[in-house]
Amino acid sequence: MSDPSDLINRIQRFIELQEEVYAPVGKLEAPQVSTPALPKDKENLTKEENSAEESAETIEEPTDPNYPSPEMIESLKACTTLDELRALCETADILKTDLPDTKLVFGKGHPQADLMIIGEAPGAKEDALGEPFVGASGNLLTKILEAIKIGRSDIFIANILKHRPPENRNPTAEERRRSLPFLEQQIDIIKPKLILCLGLVSAQTLLESSAPLKDLRGKFHPYRGDYELMVTYHPAALLRNKHLKRDTWEDVQKLRARYDELGGNPAFAPYK
Ligand code: URA
Repeated sequence: MSDPSDLINRIQRFIELQEEVYAPVGKLEAPQVSTPALPKDKENLTKEENSAEESAETIEEPTDPNYPSPEMIESLKACTTLDELRALCETADILKTDLPDTKLVFGKGHPQADLMIIGEAPGAKEDALGEPFVGASGNLLTKILEAIKIGRSDIFIANILKHRPPENRNPTAEERRRSLPFLEQQIDIIKPKLILCLGLVSAQTLLESSAPLKDLRGKFHPYRGDYELMVTYHPAALLRNKHLKRDTWEDVQKLRARYDELGGNPAFAPYK
């Protein structure tokens, strides 16, 4: 059996020789094998690669059939009165839900209202009459407003959707997205000092938020730079759960106080 120290010496010399010829052991780098880029069939691309390819190939913005066309947006922006906007809404199929033959529920109230109330979508009664909040929720809304001495005809009431969804289901994200530019233009024509959102659909749509109602309600949020927006419960929720009434009462009292502070017009009967 050979001497182990002799064996170690021989290994050492072998390594030194290898290092002289190649590179220090341990710093050898894997050989760079360059593989030519293979033409990739589109189906084999990853999702990211595919979308990058698509945007590189796209010359013109594709028109999204689920969003008002650029021409419609232009006509919308050109509306300076509620009558002009209403006429445009009458012709805008994009505002419709998949329920056939619904009536436009444009919104109702004072054209220069300092307070705008925004609900979710028309129900059966609203669809039949073409007016917002005329059913059971509407009756409760009228009473809430009377309690803070605000008359319905002095404010403006509208909804996120201007047509009734089937079976009173919640408006889909797509329906809200299609309708929003029309409501925004309506708000910009009316220029209210305050906006009150009733319920989660209205609040989350306008505030572009996914926060729960309990986090959004009862405070003033800045909205699109020019407006102040308050959120409270939808009257339909109050009809189902009377325990929400106390919070709603506090919210609308705050709303009324802010309305007075901002010099809301008309100065409704002084609030006690
Ligand atoms: N609920 C709403 O959100 N809007 C209406 O117009 C009626 C009921």
